Amino acid sequence: MAQSYDVIVIGAGPAGYVSAIRAAQLGFKVGCVEKWLDPSGAPALGGTCLNVGCIPSKALLASSEEYDKASHHLGEHGIDVKGVSVDLGRMMARKDAIVSKMTKGIEFLFRKNKIAWLKGHGRFVGSGDDGYQIEVSGGGETEVFTTRNVVIATGSRARHLPDIEVDNKVICDNEGALALSEVPKKLGVIGAGVIGLELGSVWRRLGSEVTILEALPSFLAACDDAVSREAWKTFTKQGLKIDLGVTIGKVRKTKKGVTVAYTDEKGEACSLEVDRLFVSVGRVPNTAGLDLEAIGLATDERGFIPVDQHCQTPLPGIYAIGDVVRGPMLAHKGEDEGMMVAERIAGQKSHIDYDCIPWVIYTSPEIAWVGSNERQLKEAGRAYHSGQCPLAANGRALGMGTPEGFVKVLVDAKTDELLGVHIIAASASDLIAEAALAMEFKASGEDIARTSHPHPSLSEAMREAALASAKRAINL
Ligand code: FAD
Ligand code: NAI
Repeated sequence: MAQSYDVIVIGAGPAGYVSAIRAAQLGFKVGCVEKWLDPSGAPALGGTCLNVGCIPSKALLASSEEYDKASHHLGEHGIDVKGVSVDLGRMMARKDAIVSKMTKGIEFLFRKNKIAWLKGHGRFVGSGDDGYQIEVSGGGETEVFTTRNVVIATGSRARHLPDIEVDNKVICDNEGALALSEVPKKLGVIGAGVIGLELGSVWRRLGSEVTILEALPSFLAACDDAVSREAWKTFTKQGLKIDLGVTIGKVRKTKKGVTVAYTDEKGEACSLEVDRLFVSVGRVPNTAGLDLEAIGLATDERGFIPVDQHCQTPLPGIYAIGDVVRGPMLAHKGEDEGMMVAERIAGQKSHIDYDCIPWVIYTSPEIAWVGSNERQLKEAGRAYHSGQCPLAANGRALGMGTPEGFVKVLVDAKTDELLGVHIIAASASDLIAEAALAMEFKASGEDIARTSHPHPSLSEAMREAALASAKRAINL
């Protein structure tokens, strides 16, 4: 008889592994199917996020920022450093060691929570009296498991463009872009989204001449307009060349690298010659090979698994979470959904307020936001007050040598409810957590303004912006 589990999670990225752990905490017998193989061919947990996404990109962002500081920014502190150079091999080895430490950490958590790691590719083969049947094939073996609760957490992969063959050596998606063996003299990037800006920044800091080609006529359209304007000013000053409103034409590999033909914003034909090209034009959900039709489940027209606000599919006992369903493709959004679904399987009433999920772009300065921006509030016809505090007015920021950017707080004009917070500043990724918590608690601008914030700290800019939204800033 097939071995059975109370819950089977397919995929052990941040959505799946968190769901598996929460389900195990709640007393379920849990199996988690995962097929990922690391570069040595060994099975690995953690999905895109740990292996080729959040964790390695942030390691390289940190390393390249240290190099940038040592090369250009220590002088202002009265520290002279000579002969700064990059050993890319060591930088990559550090990144790989962090990835390995994190993925091994999840193996430990699986053992601790008695979660069975079902190694291999999972697919549906049908359903019967004992629930859904899932076949797992890996390492030359195939076995079928049964369960009444399935959490599909199969994530996403890089979207590629027609006629542009990604070999992850010369033309790279995120996987190759995180593993170059030398710093390209000239780097081209298609797509000025999150990956283009983060990884473009990494290689620019390490010495590449970076040109980013973006199809949209506007820059960082998802951000508050004031943040996009500030980001444009800062990133182009740092040396990123960004062409907006382009149409990509023929992309040709040459002996030396790649030639990208495109038309610019004015419709003029242009050509870009680079040593390496990154393609970062979004991601697509992983559903091929799951054989969803075996249980009568269909994806939507974009390939996502349809779910309600609680990540329940139209089929009883089948849930889907993370990048494979609607909503932002963010690790913490998947984690939130993973916990929610495990708790709902246990009969709890957990839910997620999707308006309170923060976004971060790990450039320098970082960009982070939660809730609505001014454009959205205007479109919704909602009356609001805005308060802004530049980091140049913050003593800690001056001491740290990071006076760039601002914190902007938006509150309802009548009730003072916090509607959105938009930050471009050093450590915005950490500063935004306060705003997300405040939004979850339906806090008011006054709540933030009356909360004691440590002095001197960057967080004081949040309080000052909240004070400014009520026209009673102290330090501005
Ligand atoms: P994934 O992490 O994609 O995991 C899915 C897992 O399912 C994979 O391990 C896959 O092998 C497995 N799988 C798929 N199909 C099957 C099958 N049939 N059988 C068995 N296993 C299967 N997000 C952030 O919030 N912050 C960041 O800083 C950030 N940085 C990023 C940087 C880069 C370069 C990239 C590419 C992404 C980044 N993201 C970031 C996005 C983040 O990585 C994803 O949102 C997140 O990984 C999604 O989690 P997931 O669990 O849904 O899917
Ligand atoms: P993205 O959606 O952020 O950006 C893609 C960009 O490519 C867009 O600006 C789009 O207009 C542009 N584009 C699309 N087609 C194009 C074409 N043919 N020619 C030129 N430009 C084109 O996607 P990206 O950067 O690939 O990242 C994928 C996802 O991964 C993100 O949406 C995000 O959810 C996640 N991610 C999150 C990070 C974070 O939270 N810090 C970091 C990196 C990725």
